[in-house]
Amino acid sequence: MSGKLVIGNWKMNGRLAANLALIESMLESPALQQARVAIAPPFAYLGQAATLLADSHIMLGAQDVSAFAADGAYTGEVSASMLADVGCRYVLVGHSERRQYFRESDAQLGQKLQAVVAAGLIPVYCVGETLAERESGAYREVVAAQLSVLSVLNGAECVVAYEPVWAIGTGKVASVAQIDEVHQYIRATLLQCHGGSDSICVLYGGSVKADNADAILALESVGGALVGGASLDVNSFGQICQAAKKTV
Ligand code: 13P
Repeated sequence: MSGKLVIGNWKMNGRLAANLALIESMLESPALQQARVAIAPPFAYLGQAATLLADSHIMLGAQDVSAFAADGAYTGEVSASMLADVGCRYVLVGHSERRQYFRESDAQLGQKLQAVVAAGLIPVYCVGETLAERESGAYREVVAAQLSVLSVLNGAECVVAYEPVWAIGTGKVASVAQIDEVHQYIRATLLQCHGGSDSICVLYGGSVKADNADAILALESVGGALVGGASLDVNSFGQICQAAKKTV
């Protein structure tokens, strides 16, 4: 596998038949061959995806995880060790849609991060400012506050995803200069405050498409892409993977 990491976040999309068709076309696509790539389907379809992806290079991720680490009476929850059991490698934590619709607190996110690492999985911790926070100029402080939750990890391996909320699903992409500025800031903050290493992977997410992937992934500060809508279309996703493969 070569190049930067691309993770497809399916969000709340998919059905058995559509997933089968999409995953089979991904497995056949030359654009995805050799790419460092993962998909994160809804919980209900992780088992299906794991079976289809067995023996392939495409890795599996989950979109969320319970803050409770141990098995028990937590109706509706899915634990990190269950995600490991079905073959996940990555787990999204703190996606802006979880923060917004489910009011996930920093304390909960800290527990989720710890549970993911304890299960031997890699958290993909999402940060990013709203449009109002961007326009007020306070976006660095917002991102720094979100990153402070990572101190619970004591330097354990983690991927960070910068997803400006105003660029998610809106078709609005942050400019290459805006992305580079925040990515450099995140890397510097992680290095200084959270025992991060120079090799820390910071993904960009927010309307990444076939036509902007080259420019975004060419940035040295960008370690890969977290892709929503375009990950549901094999041609678009393949072109993003192709852009990622060209990078080191
Ligand atoms: P879109 O690519 O659809 O903007 O979604 C980005 C995202 O939220 C990925 O987690």
